[in-house]
Amino acid sequence: MNQQEAKLRIEDLREQLHTHNHNYYVLSQPSISDYDFDMLLNELIELEKKHPEFDDPNSPTQRVGSDINLEFNQVEHKYPMLSLGNTYSEDEIRDFETRIRKLIDGEIEYVCELKYDGTSISLTYKNGKLVQAVTRGDGVQGDDVTANVKTIRSVPLQLAGNEYPEEFEIRGEILMPFAVFEELNKEREEVGEAPFANPRNAASGTLKMQNSAIVAKRKLDCYLYYLLGANIPGRNHFENLQTAKKWGFKVPSNTALCKNIDEVIDFIQSWDEKRESLPVPIDGIVIKVNSIDQQEELGFTAKSPRWAISYKYKAERVATKLNEVSYQVGRTGSITPVANLEPVLLAGTTVKRASLHNADIIENLDLHEHDTVYVEKGGEIIPKIVGIDTKLRGGNAEKVEFIENCPECGTQLVRKEGEANHYCPNDRSCPPQIKGKIEHFISRRAMNIDGLGEETIDLLFKENLIHDISDLYLLKKEDIVPLERMGDKSAERILNSIQDSLQVPYERVLYALGIRYVGATVAKKLAKAIPSIDSLANSSIEQLVEVDEIGSKIAESIVEYFSESHHQELVMKLKDYGVQLEKEVSESPAGSNKLEGLSIVISGSFEKHSRDELKEMIELHGGKNVGSISKKTSFLLAGEKIGPSKLAKVEKLGIPMISEDEFLDKING
Ligand code: IVH
Repeated sequence: MNQQEAKLRIEDLREQLHTHNHNYYVLSQPSISDYDFDMLLNELIELEKKHPEFDDPNSPTQRVGSDINLEFNQVEHKYPMLSLGNTYSEDEIRDFETRIRKLIDGEIEYVCELKYDGTSISLTYKNGKLVQAVTRGDGVQGDDVTANVKTIRSVPLQLAGNEYPEEFEIRGEILMPFAVFEELNKEREEVGEAPFANPRNAASGTLKMQNSAIVAKRKLDCYLYYLLGANIPGRNHFENLQTAKKWGFKVPSNTALCKNIDEVIDFIQSWDEKRESLPVPIDGIVIKVNSIDQQEELGFTAKSPRWAISYKYKAERVATKLNEVSYQVGRTGSITPVANLEPVLLAGTTVKRASLHNADIIENLDLHEHDTVYVEKGGEIIPKIVGIDTKLRGGNAEKVEFIENCPECGTQLVRKEGEANHYCPNDRSCPPQIKGKIEHFISRRAMNIDGLGEETIDLLFKENLIHDISDLYLLKKEDIVPLERMGDKSAERILNSIQDSLQVPYERVLYALGIRYVGATVAKKLAKAIPSIDSLANSSIEQLVEVDEIGSKIAESIVEYFSESHHQELVMKLKDYGVQLEKEVSESPAGSNKLEGLSIVISGSFEKHSRDELKEMIELHGGKNVGSISKKTSFLLAGEKIGPSKLAKVEKLGIPMISEDEFLDKING
């Protein structure tokens, strides 16, 4: 393919992929199979690698994000990002109309939209391309989060057609759908991280992440509801959004045009129940004057437009009494305070407990013993305490003080600087930590040991038969048979399953160890980059952060784990019993250790192989592919058209460069 043909093909692929993306993520009407989509995308990735001269920051290939650290630039908003006045009752909605009537004669049409509960964003498009995405910030200036927003599939990078203004802004809400939120929290709890309290926090937390490759995996969504700029197309809001939809934006779909306030109120009422069944969180309805002329006449107050208001649904809330605060100890030693409540009916279920999350929450609530508390079930799945009726507080009720010692083993708790949670550091002999670690070790995604439930582990622990995960491999039939509800058959099944777990590959064993922050995905990445537990245990923080997707928090946790002598002993025991603690050689055919200990940066475009193929070769031969050049880089695998800043850095640090052919000689020779 010559250069001209490549250019045409790249353009054709980009256009096809933009359209398929839009059909899938905005219209929810896929027009191609996932497989065919991936084939087109891969073809484009390859072509772009070969032809960096045709790079386009808005190519569909940019959706995967990058692991380059972002430092957000502050950007001033061209038009301030205001908020909306809140109302909670029909009367307040009628007051809104009365205020408008004082300023405007004639007919007024209202648009009702769902009030999405996420984090607001302002997008700027120039010549049909997304050029900037900025958070609300303080309303005057916000963070430039363009790289992260580009990973959101429903945000068009390139608009459809050619009838859009040369430059405009569109504002909307970035959301995390409930299903994604639940999955994410499950994963976080698995690795001992505090779950997000609600999808809104999860969405804004994700948007502010430093690594857009992780943002890309979080499957955020985005609805756009406000078009602004000098040349916006029409003179009413509703039509403008329909036009924006034609350009490729996902605009609110459950909207209504209302001729009067009674219709508005009907709309509000009709969504009070229906909102439960939406895939994304909403917390109310936004009511907007449709005519832009009327909007301009009404103008703004210092804080919000006079032409729009929001109606917020009240979360169901009840008062009940706090019986006591108890504390749970997780497998990583994290302490979760729980409010035990006088049972009360809330939104159809009886609530007896509410999570208090951490010491700061208790402090901020100023919780006292036997307080009367308000419990709410809003967008959240778990009920929470939102306030206290201090008038009902007893005169000598004592403040709830966070415990200082572990409720299970008595060890003094610790709280690391910058962390919200308290931990029990006694991971060797604190019973719930030991049992929790064993439960995690045997779980399906880890060692997949069958037949051992929570109760059996409890019994084995009580009978002093297991003290840590390695003891599983010493269990004998006569240990298990006498236990409650166990017999010959079940004991055999358990022992066979323990035996089978010796075949579980290294990456899953690494996950099974339950090192804080090392979830299944992280373990996979680690095992690929550092293929044995011995080399992992000897890795420094600096070496660990060179690995794809490993940040300093994970690196520190790994180093801390292996610095403890009892963990070193545990690893030795597991090794003796035959657990897989290195990547099998057969998993890497034709590999060698010719590049062992080398960290190699790939840059530019190559003739014979794609960058992914080269990366795989490096790993296959024991080397490490790292993203950025540092003093520790062994050499730069250099292709055509390397960026000038990279070249300068290489020269400054005196790092050798080798060509593709030299590299192939090195590994094959
Ligand atoms: S219009 C000038 N429409 O609610 C204000 N806002 O409290 C234009 N929101 O900051 C905002 N859904 O983050 C508008 N359909 C919708 C909305 C919406 C959610 C958020 C937005 C805004 C906040 C106002």
